[in-house]
Amino acid sequence: MSNLESVEGAILFEDIDSILQVKTDEKWVMQVNPNWQMLLVDHAHCERKAADFAINLIKSYTEYEVLQAPLSKLVREEMRHFELCLKYLKMYAIPFKPIQPCGYAKALHRIIRHERKQKLMDMLIVAAFIEARSCERFGLVARVLSQPQLIKFYQTLYQAELRHFQNYLALAFQIYSHSQVNKRIIDIGQAEAEFVQSSEAVFRFHSAIPI
Ligand SMILES: [Fe+2]
Ligand SMILES: [Fe+2]
Repeated sequence: MSNLESVEGAILFEDIDSILQVKTDEKWVMQVNPNWQMLLVDHAHCERKAADFAINLIKSYTEYEVLQAPLSKLVREEMRHFELCLKYLKMYAIPFKPIQPCGYAKALHRIIRHERKQKLMDMLIVAAFIEARSCERFGLVARVLSQPQLIKFYQTLYQAELRHFQNYLALAFQIYSHSQVNKRIIDIGQAEAEFVQSSEAVFRFHSAIPI
């Protein structure tokens, strides 16, 4: 039984197709192979940012005991993923360096409301979307890459990010009414889908359709 099934009355978001309103365009998939080294660098940054995001929630919302232990566990997992990225970067002699991010996180953060309690709900749902989209893209990357070790790595991460997506939504359903959360999932999902269907010159793990 998933975490979500244990939350009575919550809409069941069992898999990423139940939440993501659009699939990644094939033009994005076609850019994976020519850019796999840069994607690995971007991926390492994404894992560290995922840990940052959860630490920020722990730090900012100390009064929500329900968040503390699950998010702490998630932070450890994200940093473990970061370490695995570093391992593969080293294996393929790819330097780890700062790179320009795509517009995905910025587009999602724009929709987060400012009032404290609304902000927490939006941050949990935005995190769920980032995990769900990561999950989808790990699956796509695993499908087209030609490095056997990386294929296995991304297949393993697919499962982890699927669990993270479910965990974030379960937390939202534990704190807020189901109707509030369900409505916000639709709104944030629309903004997420709009970005994914837009065009973007920068190619990254979460970027829009390549120009
Ligand atoms: Fe991760
Ligand atoms: Fe994650």
